[in-house]
Amino acid sequence: MEYQLSNSSDVDNWKEVILVYSSALKEISTKIEILNDEFQHVHRYNPIEHIKSRIKTSESIVKKLKKNGYESTIENMVKYVNDIAGIRIICSFTTDIYRIAEMLVNQNDVKVLAVKDYIKNPKPSGYKSYHMIDRIIEAKVEVQIRTVAMDFWASLEHKINYKFEGNAPEHIKDELYACAQMVSALDAKMLSLNEEIQAIEKEQNTQ
Ligand code: GTP
Ligand code: MG
Repeated sequence: MEYQLSNSSDVDNWKEVILVYSSALKEISTKIEILNDEFQHVHRYNPIEHIKSRIKTSESIVKKLKKNGYESTIENMVKYVNDIAGIRIICSFTTDIYRIAEMLVNQNDVKVLAVKDYIKNPKPSGYKSYHMIDRIIEAKVEVQIRTVAMDFWASLEHKINYKFEGNAPEHIKDELYACAQMVSALDAKMLSLNEEIQAIEKEQNTQ
């Protein structure tokens, strides 16, 4: 069922709410870009590969409210839908994820409301990512931080789940789970290689 906007003031309220979320998204995107520049200045490399952001469509908002048993009202959407504004930060190494998260936490105007660490505690599917719900200006923003490899896995898994409407054949689920383990091994290997390279660079610079 669609959210019925019964009069022009509802339309205005809706537009106003969406405006606040898109401002929050712009604000946090800029903040993250600045943090990336600062990081580049201090550590001599960019931890962030790229950033993706989106505002949830009205159809998805209504669908999510319905799924959770809430009426489609602006109040309910603001209260119960945490990912109306969503941002995904893709970085190179697992260690970068925690560095970026910490830098965000330390921002005066970013208040962390909730954290879900699916890297320390992966989902049964094998899904890994670091999620935060942050309050920025007056809006909640869902921040997902993950490596390129984790993002690769999550996008294929999402596609498969979409295709099979969540009921993928067992062998596909098993193979995806095995892929998630390979992703973790790859991330660990890439991280240790990078650390080795950095150590060599440091040694050369002190000679
Ligand atoms: P929703 O999944 O959005 O209803 O929220 P939730 O309360 O379960 O929060 P959670 O932090 O678990 O998930 C939020 C978002 O993370 C999802 O909308 C997806 O973008 C992503 N996500 C979570 N679990 C998975 C997963 O198993 N696979 C993939 N591909 N993405 C996932
Ligand atoms: Mg979501």
